[in-house]
Amino acid sequence: MQLVLATNNPHKIEEIRALLAALPITVLTRDDFLEFPDPEETGITLEANAEIKARAILEATGWPALADDTGLEVDALDGAPGVYSARYAGPTASYADNCTKLLEVMRDVPGERRTARFRTAIAIAWSVDEVEWVDGEALGAITTEPRGASGFGYDPVFFYPPLQKTFAEMSADEKNVVSHRGRALAAAVERIERRLTLSS
Ligand code: IMP
Repeated sequence: MQLVLATNNPHKIEEIRALLAALPITVLTRDDFLEFPDPEETGITLEANAEIKARAILEATGWPALADDTGLEVDALDGAPGVYSARYAGPTASYADNCTKLLEVMRDVPGERRTARFRTAIAIAWSVDEVEWVDGEALGAITTEPRGASGFGYDPVFFYPPLQKTFAEMSADEKNVVSHRGRALAAAVERIERRLTLSS
């Protein structure tokens, strides 16, 4: 089986490749194709955006495609930035800009109200008529200042209580075990394994 990862983000490609490494499948990425669409994420849910990306890559490459969409949902902000996490501080915002804006908006929010979750939705487009979804989440809290240098995105401001570290203070392996994407991918691996069993 060949499966194309429908993402342009090198951090994600690395994380997802590690998590799919045990499966008897060939994982393809944008580097394996001359043309690789980057569709606009016009959905209003994570699931809808994941489906848009997976379908676009399936249609362009002819191979089954796996896409993920992640959002940081902050309780004190009624679930924002959520599906708009990438563009929170503006259309060209860097990861640092987004973290700075979040810490600024949360400046007066007391500790017990700083709870948040990362949520990842994954869509696997097996064919035009067959798409399935899984999701995963990680519960934590927004820090008052950035901590740690690993990872990407909001990792330096997302504190994970069970390990008493931000995601940016964890190794890649530590993060993969507990992260939203790691959990969603574990569920995706089960679906892929089931598919392999059915087709063998
Ligand atoms: P995407 O739509 O899945 O690319 O994710 C949207 C935004 O969420 C990204 O631009 C990052 O800012 C953030 N994000 C996604 N995954 C993670 C993660 O694992 N850690 C920290 N931030 C993330």
